[in-house]
Amino acid sequence: MTHLISPQNIAIPDGIFAQRVTQTEHYTDRLFRFRMTRPASFRFRSGEFVMIGLPQPDRPIFRAYSIASPAWDDELEFYSIKVPDGPLTEHLQRIQRGDTIWMRKKPTGTLVHDALLAGKRLWMFSTGTGIAPFASLIRDPETYARFDEVILTHTCRTAAELTYGQNLVAALRADPLVAEMAAGLRLYSTTTRASFPTMGRITDLMANGKLFADLGLPPISPQTDRAMICGSMEMLRDTRAMLESYGLTEGSNSAPATYVVERAFVD
Ligand code: A2P
Repeated sequence: MTHLISPQNIAIPDGIFAQRVTQTEHYTDRLFRFRMTRPASFRFRSGEFVMIGLPQPDRPIFRAYSIASPAWDDELEFYSIKVPDGPLTEHLQRIQRGDTIWMRKKPTGTLVHDALLAGKRLWMFSTGTGIAPFASLIRDPETYARFDEVILTHTCRTAAELTYGQNLVAALRADPLVAEMAAGLRLYSTTTRASFPTMGRITDLMANGKLFADLGLPPISPQTDRAMICGSMEMLRDTRAMLESYGLTEGSNSAPATYVVERAFVD
């Protein structure tokens, strides 16, 4: 890939915003986040994704990234996996403050409030970088206006991979303006391959009832509960099957229902 970090000589194609990286933070050899400037005209709904790429003279590679920052933030944040030899992330993982990022202008997605019917309790099920859209949604006032209780589950292989979600919720609790709004939020973190207080795939913890026992909640019901899922294809398939066994049905922007799904895209 002939990627140029400071591409003065590359024309910006139609339909693309060129933005500057403002911050990067690396968590493990597989995970990092970056923040960038936000175009003044750019609007999105919490939970949506955009296509992200790096400046390239011909046929630039774009990948879908959920926007992890809230709609009220001046900047945009993204949480990314680093894939060895990945066409985009191999280069993206090396970006630094001041570098240029390209972003397609139109956000889209199904993990949005418009695709869910109102309810009492909102479950957000995530694995790995699938937590990104929920990082936005847990800082959106609409989430708490629509639901009394919000439960974010995050499952990763190791404890180090849980850091992004834990830091996010800790920062939210430490911010008086957001903390009061998000009093109904609970984070439920688990690992599958390294020791941690709560271990297991979220699907297994639902099936054996431990998730509900730990939280002191009844099992999921279509009368009270709504859900959003974001993870790998396999995680989506299995979590979706669990939710359907509780009687939930999949919604969309045009036909809201009781659960919605988005893939954590980059691989
Ligand atoms: P496991 O370690 O048992 O595979 P990854 O890093 O590969 O994207 O995985 C993130 C997390 O998602 C891991 O904890 C992994 O558990 C879990 N996971 C993978 N497949 C599924 C699935 N089909 N259902 C639920 N969780 C899954």
